[in-house]
Amino acid sequence: MFKRPKTKAPKRDQLRPGQRFEGEVRDLSSDGQGIVAHPNGRVFFVPGVWRGEQGLFEVTGLKGRMGFARVLTLNEVSPRRRPSPCPHHGFTNDACGGCPWLFMDYCEQLKNKQQLVKKALQALNEKLEIASIWASPEELGYRNRAQLKTDGKRLGYVAGNSREIAEASDCLVLNEKNRSTLKNLRGKLPNHSWKPSRGKQWSTLDFDDDITAEEVVVNQRRPFRQGNTAQNQRMRDWLTERITSLNPQDPVLELFAGSGNFTEVLVNAGCKDIYAVDSFRPAVESLKDKALPGVSGHCSDLDRIGSAEELSAQLSRAGLLLLDPPREGLKNLADYLALAKQLHTVIYVSCDPATLTRDLKVALTHGFELQEVQPLDLFPQTPHVEVLTVLNR
Ligand SMILES: C[S@@+](CC[C@H](N)C(=O)[O-])C[C@H]1O[C@@H](n2cnc3c(N)ncnc32)[C@H](O)[C@@H]1O
Repeated sequence: MFKRPKTKAPKRDQLRPGQRFEGEVRDLSSDGQGIVAHPNGRVFFVPGVWRGEQGLFEVTGLKGRMGFARVLTLNEVSPRRRPSPCPHHGFTNDACGGCPWLFMDYCEQLKNKQQLVKKALQALNEKLEIASIWASPEELGYRNRAQLKTDGKRLGYVAGNSREIAEASDCLVLNEKNRSTLKNLRGKLPNHSWKPSRGKQWSTLDFDDDITAEEVVVNQRRPFRQGNTAQNQRMRDWLTERITSLNPQDPVLELFAGSGNFTEVLVNAGCKDIYAVDSFRPAVESLKDKALPGVSGHCSDLDRIGSAEELSAQLSRAGLLLLDPPREGLKNLADYLALAKQLHTVIYVSCDPATLTRDLKVALTHGFELQEVQPLDLFPQTPHVEVLTVLNR
């Protein structure tokens, strides 16, 4: 994780967008961009470059002490660079922006994901043991869900720093079923019913490999689903192994349960008393429809002030707490742990090493010890990294 430099940018920083400078990529930020220092000390974030590369950069924006730039030419190029197999890959406004590491060899991507986890978690303990990352069996063709943007005339993705729809005729990270859904959706253009509502720049089309193009409903979210089926199975197997050593009679509190992906694992591993919570009502309804024995599903916003107190009865009896939050983590974890007197095990599945580190720090101050840290790659071609952890008290 890149930490802001303690040194301030010079007061008389005359930099403006369009100006050029030479530099070297000295690190990668947590969102996968290159970090390049301007000769005057200001730090710039540059997409599409790798550690050790050197070249000529152009300022594209300035914000506080930070800067943003694009690469113009590279005179020192990483030997692990490769030609992109996707015509939509790139870092201009008309590129889709969805696979920011597609230009880099997969082993090199994995090495960097491992480092991202190490850098973040070392803030807890420099000697912390972190297992080697589990690579995805598929580098491309793995994604089981996607969200496209459309204005009724164009259909594609929108890069993080852009407000433009970049047309996507194909998408190589989607699995076969979803690639054909994308093509079939393109066949429905132009489409008056996909026009954005007033004040919006686009409509969204969410789909996964459970549905066809005909079943896609404009602006309708689908319940969350882990995006890489093979790696999700690996997480489920990992969880099964961790549960079998626990007492199946222990009450379980599962937060951020979605539609029950991990709840099913708990039930199959013998847990008999599971209280599962998520804020997205359709997901909770779909969990309830599964009618899993010993499971009660509940809808609640877990970030809300007072949400821990509302679960005090469940917290006071739970032996196992299973957490799988979104990137923001669980900011008020301290409130939950303060009420969980019987709790002996926390299993925390995280998709953001920075918020994971913040939350683990809280757990450590509540008497827990970190037993296991297992990184896993759910999304090849991106800097995203999943981390599976176990804590015991
Ligand atoms: C990473 S997903 C995990 C879902 C599930 N464990 C799975 O494997 O499919 C995170 C879940 O957190 C839920 N969520 C997001 N913000 C929330 C909040 N403030 N309170 C409760 N649930 C929330 C989402 O609806 C989503 O289902």
